[in-house]
Amino acid sequence: MNKITNCLINKNISCKPIWFMRQAGRYLPEFREIRSKNLDFIKLCLNSNLSSIITLQPIQRFDLDAAIIFSDILMVPYGLGQEVKFEKNKGPILSELIISNFINTTEKEFTKKLNPIYQAITKTKLKLHNNKSLISFIGAPWTLIVYILGIKEEKNILNFEIMKNKKEEIKLLIDKLVNFLCLHIKSQIDSGADTVQIFDSWAGLLPEDLRNEYCYEPNRKLVIFCKNNKIPVICFPKGLDKAYLEFVNTVKPDGINIDYDLDPEWASSNLNNICIQGGMDPKILLLHENKILKEAEKYLTIFKGSPYIFNLGHGLLPATDPQKVDRLVKFVREFDK
Ligand code: CP3
Repeated sequence: MNKITNCLINKNISCKPIWFMRQAGRYLPEFREIRSKNLDFIKLCLNSNLSSIITLQPIQRFDLDAAIIFSDILMVPYGLGQEVKFEKNKGPILSELIISNFINTTEKEFTKKLNPIYQAITKTKLKLHNNKSLISFIGAPWTLIVYILGIKEEKNILNFEIMKNKKEEIKLLIDKLVNFLCLHIKSQIDSGADTVQIFDSWAGLLPEDLRNEYCYEPNRKLVIFCKNNKIPVICFPKGLDKAYLEFVNTVKPDGINIDYDLDPEWASSNLNNICIQGGMDPKILLLHENKILKEAEKYLTIFKGSPYIFNLGHGLLPATDPQKVDRLVKFVREFDK
């Protein structure tokens, strides 16, 4: 059994696995090299050879316990017929939703469109040592809907007008997405992934009275699907603050990724019987090495007696120096040996 599974499922406290969100990405020169020749991001995600090579890049550099498949949460709206574009410094742009396309997409069409992702997983699995986990992922329905309907305006503020006018549509979208996300999870696991992480990056923008319907319930359904299929599952409902407790008690995943705004002491005392992952602010990695190691030591000390996967409170930033990542990995490995 690999260390990630041992920590998530057996709640082993001594294996101390480590990996990073966005560990395959723009901070690596070898990624930028491939990216500069592949300007269409969606096409790159659908190139199974390159996607597998990119997935393995951080594994070749650092002593990590998991690879996360190089893809994107927005491949699901793409699979459901929406056009997705990534423009430099602008973030993702989705074409206007044609709800009938979305609703009428069959499972067969969806799986065919996303088949290169599944092939990339199979190729990666063959090259990955069996003591390492291969993590697959999905975006939670709410976070996908933020992009699908263009609900978020600049500065991370929601357009409540759209939300009020499209209540019925959102309900429909959540149900359709839950079905297709379960299918996407199953296909990724059948292809060789062993764990799934569910990103609900915009959970923290929801007003309290919508959290249950838009965040907890859909996440709960996805977690039940994973548990029924014996798939270890980590949730990352970013920005929930103290509502992390309600999330964990309602959704009950095997692991919970905490964000950098959440007090780790509070998390350690309040989030019980669950494997905790991450927390450290990725911006710390832009500082001097002493500060980085001191902050890592803080997290490792707080979570010493509990099942903990070392990771960050969000993805590695493009400005991160890979040498600092290397230093951090070695420090975590040596800690309390
Ligand atoms: O973590 C990994 O290494 C695996 C690959 C991965 C990517 N995106 C690759 C990517 C994962 C797990 C994601 C998840 C994702 N994608 C999320 C949830 C996590 C989070 O960041 O909150 C979200 C919201 C997205 C949507 C998305 N994709 C955005 C907003 C952007 C543009 C902004 C950004 O951070 O670059 C992307 C593009 C993207 N996805 C890149 C990568 C490596 C950068 C592409 C590039 O320009 O080279």
